[in-house]
Amino acid sequence: MSPVRIVESAYVGVPETAAPPPGPIRFTAMEALWVVFPVLQHVLLYEAGDDMPPFDAILQSLRSSLAATLGSFAPLAGKLVHLEETGDVGISCSASDGVRFVVAECDADIRRLAGDEEHDLRVLEALVPEVDMDRLPTAVLAVQATRFEGGVAVGLTVHHGAADGRALWTFVDAWATACRGETPAATPCFDRSLVKMPAGDELASDVLRKFAPNLPSVALASSVFEDRKRLTRRTFTLDEGDIQRLKQRIVHLNESGGTPLPRPPSAFAAVVALAWTCFARCKSFSLDDDVWLFFFADIRERLDPPVGAGYIGSCLTKCLARLPARELHGERALAVAASAVQDEINKMKEDPIAGWNFFSFDPMPSMDRLMNISGSSGFSAYQIADFGWGKPRRTEPIRMNTDGQVALMGSRDGRGVQVSVALLQAAQMDEFKSNLLALLE
Ligand SMILES: *[C@@H]1O[C@H](CO)[C@@H](O)[C@H](O)[C@H]1NC(C)=O
Ligand SMILES: *[C@@H]1O[C@H](CO)[C@@H](O)[C@H](O)[C@H]1NC(C)=O
Repeated sequence: MSPVRIVESAYVGVPETAAPPPGPIRFTAMEALWVVFPVLQHVLLYEAGDDMPPFDAILQSLRSSLAATLGSFAPLAGKLVHLEETGDVGISCSASDGVRFVVAECDADIRRLAGDEEHDLRVLEALVPEVDMDRLPTAVLAVQATRFEGGVAVGLTVHHGAADGRALWTFVDAWATACRGETPAATPCFDRSLVKMPAGDELASDVLRKFAPNLPSVALASSVFEDRKRLTRRTFTLDEGDIQRLKQRIVHLNESGGTPLPRPPSAFAAVVALAWTCFARCKSFSLDDDVWLFFFADIRERLDPPVGAGYIGSCLTKCLARLPARELHGERALAVAASAVQDEINKMKEDPIAGWNFFSFDPMPSMDRLMNISGSSGFSAYQIADFGWGKPRRTEPIRMNTDGQVALMGSRDGRGVQVSVALLQAAQMDEFKSNLLALLE
């Protein structure tokens, strides 16, 4: 039996005063890639405190602030459709649009759910709304509010082509701000014409012909992510002191290996270097084999001209690094790994658009020896997602698809980094953790 009961499912409409967009919003080529890989889900868990209103009042304010927010985020209430004439996909908006708002109840203990290192995936997955994105048309966004004995969960499911992590948190920021009764600062932008791709308009339909030849069906073979339900998942939080020590250690190790560092690595590079090292050490790869690292860079502000922070879409380019396992087992592993991460970031900065096609690789990495980073240490869900009853006790991504996926988020106190790790084998997770603790000492 599911631990979560759905009580109600209704739609929150776009206010009549919102200006309808002129026509469908055609996905860029970067966005079209997500059509076969669409689900982005996050849950926010809130423990009841003195300032938490009764659940009915919470529902009411979540709904009315969502409606108000859709005044400027109307396309998120639209549908992703197949535009047969041009072979594109795009978001189509109409006056009758709405965002599905699911209300549910759960008997699980929210303190445990929010406090445990290990994820209770069966419960967590039921706290975000289910949306079938295997066939177009599909909803772009749905939300869920779940009542617990001692708190409430807010879950979001969004189409990854319509919103990457940055865009999702921009939306949550606006919604939470409206829910607190304040006025959201930034104006979102949905204008795809601002994203200039080298091969222009044709590129998106080329991508779809290649990767989604059966439109409007976009279902992947069910075997693609068959491991997903069997993954062990745990979250480790590195505090400010951990990050400082990690950076110092990397600087020190790098100095002892030759030239002194120009400056300490970023928190992102340091944390990714740490996770990559732990990943290599918890697996039994041959020391001569390469261990791969994949991560995305947000290129909104790097495009020429930049599209700006308020762009609501997907604007990501891939970065791929590799090191022989031997290096990641060596004494200078953290420094070597941080340098490799930094090198990829520097390459991306020189030609941000070069990595737009994150499905195409040359050479092809070995997926068995690849750590895949999602999210960002720069995201601040904990600070943003205060709907008026305090910051979440915990937030987690729900979709982690593969062995070796790692999701990053700024930590709850705003000074550290939360690292969520998915591995297939529980014993390897124990190894990952003991390596992590040893390297942070
Ligand atoms: C470590 O030093 C090398 C030069 O020896 C430099 O190229 C590299 O960027 C440094 N690593 C980091 C993490 O900055
Ligand atoms: C890494 O995961 C993302 C989803 O978060 C996916 O789009 C990407 O293709 C994956 N990369 C590789 C190399 O599998």
